[in-house]
Amino acid sequence: MNVLVAGGAGYIGSHAVRQLVEAGHRVVALDNLHRGHRGAVDPRAVFHQLDLVSGTEIPVVYGPRRAGDPAVLYANADKIRRELGWSARYTEIEPIIATAWKWFQKHPGGYESEQ
Ligand SMILES: NC(=O)c1ccc[n+]([C@@H]2O[C@H](COP(=O)([O-])OP(=O)(O)OC[C@H]3O[C@@H](n4cnc5c(N)ncnc54)[C@H](O)[C@@H]3O)[C@@H](O)[C@H]2O)c1
Repeated sequence: MNVLVAGGAGYIGSHAVRQLVEAGHRVVALDNLHRGHRGAVDPRAVFHQLDLVSGTEIPVVYGPRRAGDPAVLYANADKIRRELGWSARYTEIEPIIATAWKWFQKHPGGYESEQ
């Protein structure tokens, strides 16, 4: 059987890929490698680095820290809701990426091209 494993480089996904390959299935693993590791994917499976929200291949380039990079980043909208009454329409990462991606596809020049 052909099996597609989304998040195939993650903890659960990589174990699922190995078990499926060992059971004789033809496995394709998809992962954007945001949290998973390429090396965790069984080499007998076909691997595609792909983001399931945008549908695009996103090359990951690791480099040294840049001046101004924060050590840790946390985001919480409680204060703006309390003080200004603003609340986010999207709070989960997938719809945040999906709506931002749609906007950038519609406005490839960004905000400056709108002025
Ligand atoms: N590990 C556990 O013990 C455990 C227990 C119960 C539930 N879960 C749940 O099961 C799910 C998987 O857990 P896990 O431990 O394997 O997590 P994980 O972070 O190791 O694996 C998830 C994988 O999905 C990939 N991914 C995420 N968003 C993606 C996207 N848009 N496109 C492509 N790839 C994407 C990540 O890069 C990662 O490799 C999670 O939702 C987790 O909360 C895990």
